[in-house]
Amino acid sequence: SPRVVDSVAALRAQVRDWRRDGLSVAMVPTMGALHDGHISLVRIALEKADRCVVSIFLNPTQFAPSEDLDKYPRQLARDLDRLAEAGAELAFTPDVTEMYPTGFATRISVGGPAAGLESDFRPTFFDGVATVVAKLFLQASPDYAVFGEKDYQQLCVVRQLCRDLDLPVEIIGAPTVRDARGLAMSSRNAYLGEAELEVARNFNVALRQTAAALAAGGDEGSTTAEASRALVKVGFDKVDYVAARESLTLAPWRRDRDGRLLAAAWLGKTRLIDNVEVPST
Ligand code: PAJ
Repeated sequence: SPRVVDSVAALRAQVRDWRRDGLSVAMVPTMGALHDGHISLVRIALEKADRCVVSIFLNPTQFAPSEDLDKYPRQLARDLDRLAEAGAELAFTPDVTEMYPTGFATRISVGGPAAGLESDFRPTFFDGVATVVAKLFLQASPDYAVFGEKDYQQLCVVRQLCRDLDLPVEIIGAPTVRDARGLAMSSRNAYLGEAELEVARNFNVALRQTAAALAAGGDEGSTTAEASRALVKVGFDKVDYVAARESLTLAPWRRDRDGRLLAAAWLGKTRLIDNVEVPST
């Protein structure tokens, strides 16, 4: 089983001991409710580094007051079992006051890839993510950190954060883990009933079709608009966006560069995101 620490001091001491022994360290930041997607990140971390620390912290500053912080699944005992299976050596499980003691007053705001897409609908989300990720990196000082492509814009924002603040952490992007029918694993899938799950499984199918249509020469505006209509037709209640971007910078899409098609859509009270590659031509 992983050793569990909940103080920054104990985290620092463990990492210092590893470093003294010449061991490299990879970090996997999570909010818990771990599934196969998270576990794949741990495996990739352990291919890269000698030791893996997984943080489990449901970060309140990345949730807006109207969002699902209160009902987000919490299951620490099960999470620790899964980490034991995967071979993670350390779990960092701070409480909110350890991360944000009374008087905490700093906020990191990333521009560039953080603009648009998620930020149009969750305007304070990436400030919350960037602030907590910067803290975690300064607390653990890992050599590597692994983030999933599932949250593709987040991955781009974290890369930008490290570059801009000279954080000496190598960011590794990991492929999205999906169920047999293409639905991206997500802690929020636990909110979905059977009928909603059936609808959700059309999300990735529609995005792959849309990416293929773009790569085949389809007009960007009409192809993405058609994708939004198609998602509503298969049962999504609302589409926040379906948008093509340049894959590295999230700048406007160009056919001659590797692209990414990103989308967010609602099923009842559950908001799902997904993304796929759009090959250059
Ligand atoms: P969370 O949603 O728990 O995700 C933790 C990590 O797991 C992220 O890097 C995410 O991209 C990755 N992940 C989630 N589902 C995945 C899947 N199906 N396949 C591959 N990777 C997947 O993202 C967060 O937490 C938070 O914003 C955090 C970075 C921890 C900051 O609070």
